[in-house]
Amino acid sequence: MDSQAPKGLVVLNHAIVGCGVISNIHGTCLGMVRGSRLAAVMDIVPEKAKALGEKYNVPYFTDRDQMLREVPIDVVHVCTPSGNHHEIAMWAAANRKHCFCEKPMDVTLEAMDLITAAFKKSGTYYGGCFMNRFNPPAQLFKKAVESGRFGRVTTASAQCIWWRTQEYYESGDWRGTWELDGGGCLMNQAVHYVDLIQWLVGSPVKSIRAYTGLLAHERIAVEDTAVAILKFANGALGVIHGTTAAYPGPHGTVEVCGDKGNASYDGKIIRWKFADEQAEDKTILETGGVPPAAKPADGATTGSDPAALGAYHVMFTRAFQEFSDAIQSGTPNALGTAEHRKAVEIILGIYESARRGGEEVRLPLKKSAIPVPMSLPAGYAEKVKGAIHPTLPEAMVTFRKKRASAKKGARGKSAKAKSSGKAAKATAKKSPKSARKAKRGRK
Ligand SMILES: NC(=O)c1ccc[n+]([C@@H]2O[C@H](COP(=O)([O-])OP(=O)(O)OC[C@H]3O[C@@H](n4cnc5c(N)ncnc54)[C@H](O)[C@@H]3O)[C@@H](O)[C@H]2O)c1
Repeated sequence: MDSQAPKGLVVLNHAIVGCGVISNIHGTCLGMVRGSRLAAVMDIVPEKAKALGEKYNVPYFTDRDQMLREVPIDVVHVCTPSGNHHEIAMWAAANRKHCFCEKPMDVTLEAMDLITAAFKKSGTYYGGCFMNRFNPPAQLFKKAVESGRFGRVTTASAQCIWWRTQEYYESGDWRGTWELDGGGCLMNQAVHYVDLIQWLVGSPVKSIRAYTGLLAHERIAVEDTAVAILKFANGALGVIHGTTAAYPGPHGTVEVCGDKGNASYDGKIIRWKFADEQAEDKTILETGGVPPAAKPADGATTGSDPAALGAYHVMFTRAFQEFSDAIQSGTPNALGTAEHRKAVEIILGIYESARRGGEEVRLPLKKSAIPVPMSLPAGYAEKVKGAIHPTLPEAMVTFRKKRASAKKGARGKSAKAKSSGKAAKATAKKSPKSARKAKRGRK
């Protein structure tokens, strides 16, 4: 929780900002949350806003301020591209709304710190979307760690072995970019697993060594494969293996080992062994720790198709319920800004180590290893630019240069085409100065 919530709310009105792939699960799951309802949706693309609004029978907007003027909103769901989260979250805070923000919190330390400051100031709630923490097997793991069943936790590992097609990366301008996706398989997909491993171990990550690669995709600036070794403050060691280059996907496991037990799960619990055997252990192993409602729907998996989120309804609904209940009761929520920030900082540490050829990187980090989005408040990007840019990975610098020159080329061509028009020629005859001015105006 970032603050006290206003008391006495009966039903919270939620608005979704960003009507793309993930907004559908927000819309559907909000319908299953006690004390909350979807009241409006908004997207800068009119057709997207309309489609989602009509699907859930709520008003839809292309102007977020107009939405707030016309519909009483309590909670804003941020479902826009990752590097844009700060913009929407800070706008929600400025309007004294609660905010439920998709993962990752944002893609740089600088943007995340601005979000944190905004909610500290607004006194409204911020909730981060790491719904995997609400997965029943994950909850059983956390309980076992906290009750000491693993003894001293010695190692933990997370594997997010997924497949994303080239078409997936080309399905949105923001995908596979540093500025808006914040990275590749780690920042977008494995971020859930990075969060799970740090949450389960329950101790800050102190240092990281890592390698990343772009091995099975093209025309993206980011990694599709990454391996990392973590050292936790409590002495435990961790391993992260994330990829979107493992056809056909999906496979995601989390394993925790200690001197009194070890357990792992891959959707459901597949290993659950402790020195202090307990009566419920047998049932946990038989059911995989998954209550019937949380079993994946036939063929539904996010490992190979982000739209097929059927199996995730239970987790999302529980995450929303927890957030809604906390606001209604004025009690702390599980995933405030500090919690949501942790996985992103670890991933930025992984990128920094990979950039330095696997050198050890210590946390906390002082600055982001990726570009600060230009949408940060005026002057902010300029202020940190000098400090940030020298640390950019080589691939990122090359990509930015190539893209900038491609854009320049395209602008040059269109300006040339325009200047060959009759109107421009006529003006040029009259006065070369006014022709130049006219050309500039059209750009
Ligand atoms: N929790 C999960 O498991 C999960 C799964 C998928 C995506 N996500 C996250 O959700 C976010 C969105 O992902 P997606 O796959 O739905 O992307 P998407 O591209 O399908 O949708 C994003 C939408 O945001 C809109 N948009 C962009 N800028 C906007 C602005 N300033 N104001 C309003 N709308 C704007 C776009 O028009 C688009 O419709 C990302 O941060 C992603 O990491 C989370």
